[in-house]
Amino acid sequence: MKVLFVCLGNICRSPMAEGVFKYLVEKENLENKIEIDSAGTAAYHVGNSPDTRMRDVAASHGILLTSKAREITPLDLRDFDYIIAMDQSNFDNILLLDKGETTAKVVMMREFDSDPEDGNVPDPYYGGLDGFEKVYQILMRSNLTFLEKIKQELKSPS
Ligand code: 4NP
Repeated sequence: MKVLFVCLGNICRSPMAEGVFKYLVEKENLENKIEIDSAGTAAYHVGNSPDTRMRDVAASHGILLTSKAREITPLDLRDFDYIIAMDQSNFDNILLLDKGETTAKVVMMREFDSDPEDGNVPDPYYGGLDGFEKVYQILMRSNLTFLEKIKQELKSPS
């Protein structure tokens, strides 16, 4: 099972989603069954580590963010089982890469959130630190539910 988290720059939301999901997967000893990665729809920050504010919030919750930013490619839409978009604009930009060979299920992260508000994981980049903590809370809540779904699929593949 391969899961790719996608945001705009791949330095804030999707690295946190990757880190949170890895943390939950490792807690359940499923790291040999689930591969996890993240990417951005834009190339501005390719090669960069996650934003220090996001890294600090992650560290305060015992999570280490080690990703390096990369841009999503059309191949990813064939390579991954799930592509999880942080917001509607990311979702639309992912689908623009579809060459008619997409096998991944492309879904919104907050589809798995019990309190989805407007359905988007808000972009914290230009805001205060509280925005980064809110992103962590959203991603922890959403990924707990998403992992339950994946565990069911690993038990009985469709
Ligand atoms: P992300 O946040 O999409 O969650 O990684 C952003 C990072 C960088 C920019 C925008 C959003 N930027 O404009 O550089």
